[in-house]
Amino acid sequence: MEGGDVSLFQISIKKKMAERKKRIVTGDRPTGRLHIGHYFGSLKKRVEMQNSGEYDPYILIADVQALTDNFNNPDKVRKNVREVVMDYLSVGIDPKKSTIYIQSMIPEVAELTVFYSNLVTIARLQRNPTVKTEITQKKELFGESVTYGFLGYPVSQAADITALAGEFVPVGEDQQPLIEQCKEIVRKFNSIYGEVLVEPEIVLSEGKRIKGLDGNEKMGKSLGNAIYLSDTPEEISKKVMSAVTDPARIKKDDPGHPDVCMVAYYHKLFQEDQYEQVCKECKAGSRGCVACKKELAQVITDYLAPMRKIRAYYEERPEEVDKILIEGTKKAQETAKEVMKQVKKAMKLDYFSDEIK
Ligand code: TRP
Repeated sequence: MEGGDVSLFQISIKKKMAERKKRIVTGDRPTGRLHIGHYFGSLKKRVEMQNSGEYDPYILIADVQALTDNFNNPDKVRKNVREVVMDYLSVGIDPKKSTIYIQSMIPEVAELTVFYSNLVTIARLQRNPTVKTEITQKKELFGESVTYGFLGYPVSQAADITALAGEFVPVGEDQQPLIEQCKEIVRKFNSIYGEVLVEPEIVLSEGKRIKGLDGNEKMGKSLGNAIYLSDTPEEISKKVMSAVTDPARIKKDDPGHPDVCMVAYYHKLFQEDQYEQVCKECKAGSRGCVACKKELAQVITDYLAPMRKIRAYYEERPEEVDKILIEGTKKAQETAKEVMKQVKKAMKLDYFSDEIK
């Protein structure tokens, strides 16, 4: 290569680096369909980031992590892989812009988990607020003593993020302690083995955590208070009609208290511009709860209609969903291999790297 070519080459590398989009890594456990809590808490933000064109998003279906508390139910995890992918596609995750892949098919993630487990203490994992809450919720599964795998899932999540050199992690606020733990692992790794890993940053949605239809602070499958992205108009209507309203309002023309009513709360979420009017009519006793609920059910149904339409398309074409996963997983494998090369070199584990692949 001649001098002129070298400088051209260097310029093109520099250009490439400057052009390289910021890497996003995020994902969900395939333990059930996704609901509007997931949507407002994280999915909406992911779609916005994807469409801004500034990011290179990798979205993983965390099947290994799902097994940490569903190890006795592999069918459930398997079945929900495609469901979650269809939920992603339905909200506007575009496989041309985002890479959707299966966690268990990236062996580097398992390898990194082992390497990182030296950099975390058991006490630190036991203090992780997310893990702590989940363990108390899962007493039935774990009894008095939690498994090694479940206690260690933050380590494997750190491997998910760093295996792909994730810089931004858009997730719900319940994930904050896990990202914090990942950052600690990255700092520890880099301080011992050299600056190899990227320290990620959490990206939270502006919106708060979505409450359940029953007024519970959290919407969740196990809590039975969720509206799923894939719910039919009938299911939506049935759920909304059973939502918790102002208990002090007995007769239709009693003045209502929208601040304690879940129906008013959802009006605000789905049609903020109408919220003031809804409250005014409710407080004046001129808006009956039944009519108010019927209106809300219609608003939610209309809001989710485009998602249902995309989902229906993919439900008819499971082979297209599989193709998206195959392509995405292949791409994620390539990226993880590159990162692993650097990690092994830094840890002095790069034996015979020219001879044995
Ligand atoms: N813990 C996440 C959840 O429960 C799923 C997850 C696994 C994840 N690996 C991740 C999220 C990496 C962001 C980045 O939904």
